[in-house]
Amino acid sequence: MRLQNKIAVLTGACGGIGQAIARKLVAEGACVLACDLNTKGLEALAGELGDAVATRRVDVSDFEQVQAMVEAAVAHFGGLDIVLNNAGIGAPKPLLEHDPAQDFEGVTAVNQKGVYYGLVAGGRKLAQLGGGVIVNTSSVYGAMAAELSFTYNVSKAAVDMMTKCAALEFAPNNIRVVAVAPGRVNTPILDAYKPLGLYEHLKREQMREQLIEPEQIASVVAFLASDEAGCINGTTVEAADGFSGFKFPLLNRFQQSGPA
Ligand SMILES: NC(=O)c1ccc[n+]([C@@H]2O[C@H](COP(=O)([O-])OP(=O)(O)OC[C@H]3O[C@@H](n4cnc5c(N)ncnc54)[C@H](O)[C@@H]3O)[C@@H](O)[C@H]2O)c1
Repeated sequence: MRLQNKIAVLTGACGGIGQAIARKLVAEGACVLACDLNTKGLEALAGELGDAVATRRVDVSDFEQVQAMVEAAVAHFGGLDIVLNNAGIGAPKPLLEHDPAQDFEGVTAVNQKGVYYGLVAGGRKLAQLGGGVIVNTSSVYGAMAAELSFTYNVSKAAVDMMTKCAALEFAPNNIRVVAVAPGRVNTPILDAYKPLGLYEHLKREQMREQLIEPEQIASVVAFLASDEAGCINGTTVEAADGFSGFKFPLLNRFQQSGPA
């Protein structure tokens, strides 16, 4: 088991990717403080995974709650080795239709400030305890432009840069900081594309015309959090089934079945 006796704190634990990460970490021998806004989801996760999991309602856009989350992991499990800043939201909307009073701040508060708070609070605690690993959940969209997701992409680009800068600053404290950049993963975050009539199109844009499953991302996260990834630091590791490096193969697909 890769993470035997490690203690982790995980945000966004009730989402598709978060649940898969919680299950994978426990299977690899870790204890997890699972955190989310969704208290019912947290109860279900604790019921499923038993004593290896403790839960806490945390809003990652509130620094005090993130600090308290880190303290709670240490108080409950007696230490902290791994901080997983995974919570994130999306709100697809054309930029020309944005309400600047809320559309930028809403996503930024969770995706960007949430990770920043996790880095500051998590980094301080890990430094006190002698070191550890921080894994941020970015997205391939951190390095790609896309329609409808202006604020999301900006927030994930910030996650990539925060990962680099924090790794540099935390290196003397024996803390590694890395990010995973998933492609399109089969979770509720993509449901927002359904009313826009774009959900099926998301799948067809994948090289193999299928979404990535959350368990595949969880495997990458568990690896990155483990000592096996000890030389991976200050970088974002893409887990996207080739999504970012290839142009959508319009010709064959449209010839075979027409546009989605
Ligand atoms: N699913 C994808 O296609 C995809 C692709 C790339 C990156 N990601 C990233 O993966 C991460 C997990 O997303 P997911 O696909 O599991 O989405 P999801 O919607 O299934 O889960 C997100 C979770 O975050 C929680 N959350 C939202 N706001 C929060 C807050 N303020 N404080 C604490 N928790 C909060 C939600 O309650 C939910 O349980 C996100 O950072 C997302 O941006 C997802």
